[in-house]
Amino acid sequence: MLTSGGKSIMLRFLESAINIAKKSGDFIVSHLEDEKIIELKGISNLVTSIDKESEKLIIKCLEENFPDHSILSEERGFLQKKSDYTWIIDPLDGTTNYAHRFPFFGVSIALKYNEEIILGVIYDPIRKELFFALKNEGAYLNDKKVAVSKTKNIADALISTGMPYELTLDEKNFLPFINLSSRTHGIRRAGSAALEIAYVACGRLDGFWARKLKPWDIAAGIILVKEAGGKVTDFNGNDIQLDDDTFLASNGLIHDNMLEIIKLERIVIKK
Ligand code: 2AM
Ligand code: CA
Repeated sequence: MLTSGGKSIMLRFLESAINIAKKSGDFIVSHLEDEKIIELKGISNLVTSIDKESEKLIIKCLEENFPDHSILSEERGFLQKKSDYTWIIDPLDGTTNYAHRFPFFGVSIALKYNEEIILGVIYDPIRKELFFALKNEGAYLNDKKVAVSKTKNIADALISTGMPYELTLDEKNFLPFINLSSRTHGIRRAGSAALEIAYVACGRLDGFWARKLKPWDIAAGIILVKEAGGKVTDFNGNDIQLDDDTFLASNGLIHDNMLEIIKLERIVIKK
């Protein structure tokens, strides 16, 4: 996969990504109590000045360390270079939580080599939890190797989801929400896709599904879940692509059952 330097280059990439994620995460938390100036990108799609400052900080560090690499980022878009490497960053995932001081948000940084994600880092600066994964090297939470849960029956599963900002009454996510609610231990809707996917990787959640996520919400989470032994697909069960409209990450064992229920076309309450 990598032409020169192999593992040592990967470790350098990882070390940089971890340092940058921690630095920007700690910056975000240091402004948590500030009066926020909130801009609206859509009906309920918020952005604060801290999203942009955190993004600036991350891009500056990446450009200093890897001047030849491309960067894809939530607020700035694609900063293209002639490179096989692209960093995919979400400088503040869970902006709405952050703007309300609801303490569940994080920083997500992934690195893609051509079309393959080779590294992912997600940092929760409130709990000081650092999730990271390297291709073929496993997934970690702080210094401990993690694995997805062993839950076999969906009835024993704790699952999470996100709702699109552009919510309408015919929102397709309401059906799976209701149908999965009656078949599991329960559904959470925690407001940070990146952290919720990291929670699937370390077994705190058995599955997470959503629609309309963006590459920066999912890139780091995808490699984390795969390296932790889980499965990530679209709603047709195909291996996930970064521009897919539908997303399901799970421990693998309940994946097919989740897909069946997500695809039910009417409310079928399980008694
Ligand atoms: P954000 O906080 O960076 O905007 C909320 O359900 C989670 O999904 C958050 O991680 C949010 O990221 C992400 N998200 C991205 N695009 C979204 C969309 N169109 N609608 C809802 N959530 C979206
Ligand atoms: Ca996001």
